[in-house]
This record gives sequence, structure tokens and C-alpha cells, in this order.
Amino acid sequence: MTEGFIGFYLDWKELAEQTMKTEVENPSRREGGYAGIAVTGMGGSGIVGDVIQVLGWEHLSIPVIVVKDFNIPKFVGKEWLVLSISYSGNTLETLSTVKEAMERGCDLAAISSGGKLEELAHEHGITYVKVESGRVPRASMPALLVGALKLLEVKGVKLPGLSSKGLEALGRTDDALKEAADLADGLLGRIPVFVSDTKHYPLAVRGKNEFNENTKIVSKVEILPEWGHNDIVGWEKWLGPLTAIVFELGGNDRLMKFAADYLKESGVPVKEVVMDESLNYVDRVLYYSLVIGLASLKVAGERGVDPSITKSIVKYKSFLKSWKGRPGEA
Ligand code: F6R
Repeated sequence: MTEGFIGFYLDWKELAEQTMKTEVENPSRREGGYAGIAVTGMGGSGIVGDVIQVLGWEHLSIPVIVVKDFNIPKFVGKEWLVLSISYSGNTLETLSTVKEAMERGCDLAAISSGGKLEELAHEHGITYVKVESGRVPRASMPALLVGALKLLEVKGVKLPGLSSKGLEALGRTDDALKEAADLADGLLGRIPVFVSDTKHYPLAVRGKNEFNENTKIVSKVEILPEWGHNDIVGWEKWLGPLTAIVFELGGNDRLMKFAADYLKESGVPVKEVVMDESLNYVDRVLYYSLVIGLASLKVAGERGVDPSITKSIVKYKSFLKSWKGRPGEA
């Protein structure tokens, strides 16, 4: 199964290129701009919100918030843009935020590969991008991220996106496979702890999620500088079969190098992912998401688990469906 499923990662360059050419339906924007942007979505779709939030910190003068829940915060009003992302288009938490945003008169934008979200977009004239169907959300990351940035551009919010250098990196699948094999080496039977700085937290979260969903193991995320104020102490007498995976930007990342050296001194196995500084932020997030994804597939293969099936998520979603009067339900 890994053999077939891996194809959904090795075609990321083509998927990104295809999404770049996709038409934005119902293009419109709010006169006078926005007071803020709320990006709503869960799991493999929601991670795009984390990336946009970090981009916003560096490039926008309005707040970007990430909502991974049924409800949007009270302060999100009609002068806000609510961008909702759901690969299936049927995730209840995300649909609930869309409903709430419509009720509050917010401007809306949405992405899915179909489902109820597409229907809502067509019915209510929501600015919309449809991405390729037939994949799983986590393997559609380039489409969801490129699509989200396209929607924001239509809304007048310009953020730096995937560059030609980034596209080319996604096409260098032999390099990505090699880096993934190095990362996966020795991980079998161990719990990966992803450690990053705040700017790269989407990668750490993505790493955890990929090992959860593809490899079927629990995993943990730690972010610096906050790490230095609590988690650091836990390593004084750490327990369990842990392996730390530390994301460093280039060879001179003093903060992350400190973390890697400290963790090594604690005796835990440490893997350093030294990221290419010459890639822009979106390029880097996508390329290293590819590497982590491929590593999670490799360990899934070694464990003999099917990476494509996430039956517990299906179980959770059926529970939500059967729960009458859940949060977000009028
Ligand atoms: C990732 C995955 C989940 C979903 C999440 C939300 O591959 O399967 O994390 O992304 O359950 O579903 P969608 O993305 O369809 O809104």
C-alpha cells in the first residue's frame, strides 16, 4: 500500500503547478480591506492556517488567527475575512465556522475538493477554489496552501508564495527521499519529538500529524523559545523511547543549535534537520513537509501499517455527526 500512497507525495510539484492555474470562483473583496483574517480548518487542512498565520506576522499589519474549532471568536465581525479550508468539504467543525461567519456578515473565502463546502460556496457566492479530489487532505498540502494564498490575493491580501525555486525543490524527489531516509533511520519503535522555533512551528506540528496519521504513533511538539522555560527541565531525567527531531535554519541557527546540543547532552538521540536558508518560507515549509511525510511513510512501511487509512478519524467524525446539539449547532 505504501507503494501506491507515496505517489500522492511524489507529485507535489505538479499538484502545486496545477493549483496555480486553477480559477478562483466568485472573485470579490471587501471595499476598504479587512480588520483581520480568521483561517478555519482542521488537521491536514488546518495546518495551512498555521502557515498563513506565520506569514501574516511578518508581512501584514492586521491580525491573522487560526481557528481549529466549531466557533469563531466573538471579536471576528463583519469587517473580517474568514477563510475556511476543508479538503473533503464536509468537516463539521469547519462548516460550523462558515455558518457562523455568514451569520455575522463576514467576508468569506473557501477551499475544498467538493462536499458541502463547495455547495455552500456555489449557493452563497463565496470566493472559492476547488482542488483536485481523490487524494487525502495531508497529501494535498501544496494544493491547499497555494489555493489559500491565491484566494487571499483575490481578496487584496498579498503574501509571498511558492517560488520557482520552491517548485523546483518539490520536483527534486530523489533528494527528498534521501533526506527522508536519513530522518527515518533509527526511528522505528521510537516516539518522535519535533522541536522548532516559533516561525517554523507549522513544520513541527505537521511532523507530529504525519507520524500520527501515516505511521500510527503518538508524537510530541516543542517550540522555542517557550521550550526553554519548561520542557527543557523534562529532559533532565527523561523517560521513554524518545527521539528529538530539531529543525534548524541553515548552519548558524544559534537558538536551535543550543536546543540540539542540550538535547544531545541529555543523552536522547537527536536528528537535526538543517533547512535550506535560500528557500523562501512557503518553499521551505512545503519542501520539509514533503521530507517529513516521506519519512513517516518509510517508518509506516517498516511497521507494516497502512498509511492511507485513518479509521480513528472516521470514528471521531461519526461521533460528531451523531451528537445532536454539539457546539456550533443552533
Ligand atoms: C489529514 C486528515 C485529517 C483531516 C481532518 C479534516 O490527511 O485526514 O487530518 O484533514 O480530519 O478533514 P478535512 O481536511 O477533509 O476538512
